[in-house]
Amino acid sequence: MSPATNQVVCVTGAAGFIASWIVKLLLEKGYVVRGTVRNPDDSKNNHLRELEGAKERLTLCKADLLDLESLCEAISGCEGVFHTASPVIDDPEQMMEPAVMGTRNVMVAAAEAKVRRVVFTSSVGAVYMDPNRSPDVVVDESCWSDLQFCKNTKNWYCYGKVMAEQAAWDEAKARGVDLVVVNPVLVIGPLLQSTVNASIIHILKYLTGSAKTYANAVQAYVDVRDVALTHIILFETPSAFGRYLCAESMLHRGEVVEILAKYFPEYPIPTK
Ligand SMILES: NC(=O)c1ccc[n+]([C@@H]2O[C@H](COP(=O)([O-])OP(=O)(O)OC[C@H]3O[C@@H](n4cnc5c(N)ncnc54)[C@H](OP(=O)(O)O)[C@@H]3O)[C@@H](O)[C@H]2O)c1
Repeated sequence: MSPATNQVVCVTGAAGFIASWIVKLLLEKGYVVRGTVRNPDDSKNNHLRELEGAKERLTLCKADLLDLESLCEAISGCEGVFHTASPVIDDPEQMMEPAVMGTRNVMVAAAEAKVRRVVFTSSVGAVYMDPNRSPDVVVDESCWSDLQFCKNTKNWYCYGKVMAEQAAWDEAKARGVDLVVVNPVLVIGPLLQSTVNASIIHILKYLTGSAKTYANAVQAYVDVRDVALTHIILFETPSAFGRYLCAESMLHRGEVVEILAKYFPEYPIPTK
């Protein structure tokens, strides 16, 4: 990693799966990091305090996505914002307001602070859900999920991510904020945090025995360290713009359980 930069940046939802890796890599690069968490006293943030460089250059700020003032305080004086905080849940009541209004609030706070760039963590969920797209079409950054289809299929997480990303683009345009968006596929890899996040359950269910069979389905995966590094590269590359899909492998569930069985033969991994 390159030597210290001492630039001050903010990471929202800092104790989350992806955000923890972004904080770690930023500290390793010499950034001064303000991580927002809802409760700085919660022991679930301990892993952040133990990161190399945290004692000298990490501050945990209390902020809620629905509390604009708290976000303005955390972002004021920052050169950049990595907005990763969002509920990751398929429940419209819990998902929509923090995801959409929260993103607007982050953009407002970023505009007030005159940050150089906001890097927003959207999702492939905001990209691929469109029943009218032919299966032969390669999904790329120009694709958007169809809101009505997400609604009809009750895919509230994807619906919320479309709405949140659109809110980010609207606010960026209205307030003259430089925005770059990352759209990761399903993120897996080593956890820094002590809690289990939604995408990890996708793998964990095969190890705990709660999944007795696997589906005849394919899924795209990416390593959390690559996703975190992508955020930082996009912040540091002036010519970066627009959206960036972030994906590594496309695997059938049969291939996933095969890999798990190879490395963890002692676990009850499904074979059917
Ligand atoms: N993991 C994936 O496969 C994946 C794929 C594509 C995109 N993404 C996106 O990546 C981002 C991070 O996901 P993740 O997997 O790292 O999830 P995560 O571990 O659940 O982290 C989400 C973070 O958001 C925070 N948060 C939720 N509601 C909040 C609110 N109202 N105010 C402030 N903070 C709030 C949580 O804080 P608390 O600790 O206080 O609850 C948590 O730290 C999300 O935007 C997600 O949509 C994830």
